[in-house]
Amino acid sequence: MRSIVARLTVSYVLFVVIIMLVVGLLMQQMLTAYIHRSTVREMMHQGEVIARALVGTPVRSPLLLRELVPELVGAGYLVVSGDGEVLMGSGRIPGTFRPHELERAIRTRSPQVISRTTVSGAEVLAVIVPLEARDGAVVLIKPLREIDIVLAELRVLLLRGLLVGLAVALGLAYLLGRGLSNPIRELSRAAARFRAGDLDARARALSRDELGRLTEDFNEMADRIQAMIEGRRQLLASVSHELRTPVTSVAGFVEALREGIVPEAERGRYLDIIASDVERLNRLIDDLFQLARLETGELAFDYQALDLVEILRVEADRYDPRFRERGIDFRLRVGDELPVTADPDRVGQVLDNLLGNALKFTPDGGEVTVTARRVGGEAEVRVCDSGPGIPEKDLERIFDRFYKASNQRGGERGAGLGLAIAREIISRHGGRIWAERGPGGGTCIDFTLPLR
Ligand SMILES: Nc1ncnc2c1ncn2[C@@H]1O[C@H](COP(=O)(O)OP(=O)(O)OP(=O)(O)O)[C@@H](O)[C@H]1O
Ligand SMILES: [Mg+2]
Repeated sequence: MRSIVARLTVSYVLFVVIIMLVVGLLMQQMLTAYIHRSTVREMMHQGEVIARALVGTPVRSPLLLRELVPELVGAGYLVVSGDGEVLMGSGRIPGTFRPHELERAIRTRSPQVISRTTVSGAEVLAVIVPLEARDGAVVLIKPLREIDIVLAELRVLLLRGLLVGLAVALGLAYLLGRGLSNPIRELSRAAARFRAGDLDARARALSRDELGRLTEDFNEMADRIQAMIEGRRQLLASVSHELRTPVTSVAGFVEALREGIVPEAERGRYLDIIASDVERLNRLIDDLFQLARLETGELAFDYQALDLVEILRVEADRYDPRFRERGIDFRLRVGDELPVTADPDRVGQVLDNLLGNALKFTPDGGEVTVTARRVGGEAEVRVCDSGPGIPEKDLERIFDRFYKASNQRGGERGAGLGLAIAREIISRHGGRIWAERGPGGGTCIDFTLPLR
């Protein structure tokens, strides 16, 4: 059986049929016994009335009997002598009636019941009531057919009840089955569509029970898978886009060199360009690899107890000559030590990218300031420059992979991975990183690290 509705319906109907059959059979038995008993009781009563009426009356006087016992209509009767000779009666009267119960009734002076016997060719129920002070008995007889008719009517009633019960069971099973199977069908339709490649396929939650929750879980899972697939698609597009430029450039220069069309004096310059492109490719691949390992948590950090101010000084000293070369006013404003637990190389890498960006985006003669201070239980580092700033709408997104703000200058172009790596490193340390518009219109990048 393939559908829930069908399965439910069949089990419901089977259940109802079995219950009703059992109840019906029991009821029929009880009612049969009841009808038998009450008929016998009634017949005994009539027998006693007749027996009493016959006391002191000449026996062969049916007229008198009919006057005395008008309620005899329905049940026939016989009056028999002690040896079974029928003296009188109603309907077709047989000559004799002498079952062994007759003898017992007279001997014990108590009424006897014969559930089934034949009188004048008809199957009957007979009750023998002995006559008082006389050797004989009154026999009340009732055709079994009459009792059977009552029972047959009863069976019809029971059957009707069964049919009504069945109809109700069918209806209930159908409703219940639909309530169950609709959400499942909806879910399986959505799953099939999703599997077939429609990443937007979601299921409507049709109930608020376990199935509803399952549907919600499915939808959430679909959201995530969709985001993952789209993220991967985008990543692949960005990676191939980033790789294409340097690779095309290298291919072009190599081709020119091979064909020997490059003048001797220019060769060195061509090779320099190739070397720098290869260098750029190398960095891109390294960065991508590092970011992937950061994101999967594969990259192990070497956490140490250290002073953040120390690391800031080292990085500042490295960059100082480069800023000076460009006439940029570079300042480091730090106070007391800032004890943190961190991987010095990774934090240095973050600072390298922030200072590198500041150097890259600040025009000659500009300003770059690095401040570090305690804020609550955290050390906060702020790198501000007097560059072009980042448009409000890009402030959040510059931390995404390959994201380059729309105001980027030509010339030195990065891959747009530096801040994505920085965000991973800082969040692995339990800190936060964000960008703000600087006071003079430039850019400020802030990050925090928990203090030890
Ligand atoms: N100080 C800044 N001033 C203006 N724009 C900035 C600054 N820092 C970052 N940005 C913007 O954010 C983008 C992302 O920076 P990120 O450091 O991630 O990449 P990148 O410097 O372009 O390349 P990479 O760091 O991988 O060499 C930059 O391309 C730039 O558009
Ligand atoms: Mg950068």
